[in-house]
Amino acid sequence: MSTTLPAFTPIEETLYLTLCGRALDNHLRHPILADPMAEQLVHKLGYDCGRFRLSTSPTINIAHRARKLDQIARRFIARHPHAVGLDLGAGLDTRVFRIDPPPTVDWYDIDFPEVIATRRHLLPARAGAHAIAADLTDPDWPDAVGGDRPAVIVADGLLAFLTPDEMTALLRRLTGHFPSGEAAFNGYSRFAIWAARHYHGTQSVAGLLRSPGFDDPHEPERWDPRLQLVDEILLTREPEVAQFPAALRWFTRLSAHSTAWSRKGTTVLHYRF
Ligand SMILES: C[S@@+](CC[C@H](N)C(=O)[O-])C[C@H]1O[C@@H](n2cnc3c(N)ncnc32)[C@H](O)[C@@H]1O
Repeated sequence: MSTTLPAFTPIEETLYLTLCGRALDNHLRHPILADPMAEQLVHKLGYDCGRFRLSTSPTINIAHRARKLDQIARRFIARHPHAVGLDLGAGLDTRVFRIDPPPTVDWYDIDFPEVIATRRHLLPARAGAHAIAADLTDPDWPDAVGGDRPAVIVADGLLAFLTPDEMTALLRRLTGHFPSGEAAFNGYSRFAIWAARHYHGTQSVAGLLRSPGFDDPHEPERWDPRLQLVDEILLTREPEVAQFPAALRWFTRLSAHSTAWSRKGTTVLHYRF
């Protein structure tokens, strides 16, 4: 167990919130994601997840959206076994281990240099898994990835930390780099951004939020005309809700009746290009 945490900047430190969410989910009676590596990482780092005071609802929420993004990536890879996978702002997520792609897939985790150094230190190497130490707003980093294969691009917990202009430039750069592919990320509604600024579990990231949020799942199609919406996944309507603890399940099922209300919670937005 480490006693010295990596010297992360505040934006890099946001990775602990999602890492802790997945680690705590793994402890639940019925985990939604079941990611034992997340728990091992927290232990190796000696990180105190208690500081977020994450209750069951946000814990499950973090795990649930990660599970949906995993599913999208896994299905794409099943159809394109020679694909490229990208996790934008990967933090210390162990997605590539959960998805377990065949070695014919090249998977890239991209984050700031200090985060990538920590990943390299803490996570085992695996065939086909690569890391790119870069600022995603730097226009040159995609050159490190061959642009001749279909790509599945996921971003979990990233959007809120980029301005709409930065997100637009990033998406256009990527959809222009690869011949075809899919992109998926958790959406942040305007309400979700407001709530993230005020909810005690996420107040640690409040000052770092740079996206105003958006409510229309077609909005990214306007940012990048190559994107076409495949699906807006409202987590309230997904089958995993059946595994939620009783009170949360009841509330989530009630919320599921209203699209507008469901959008106030977490959505996973899925596009093709
Ligand atoms: C909330 S964390 C999510 C991390 C990871 N996706 C997860 O689910 O655990 C946001 C991540 O985005 C990274 N990030 C934010 N802005 C970035 C940028 N401009 N370039 C590279 N990484 C960035 C942060 O360093 C951090 O690891």
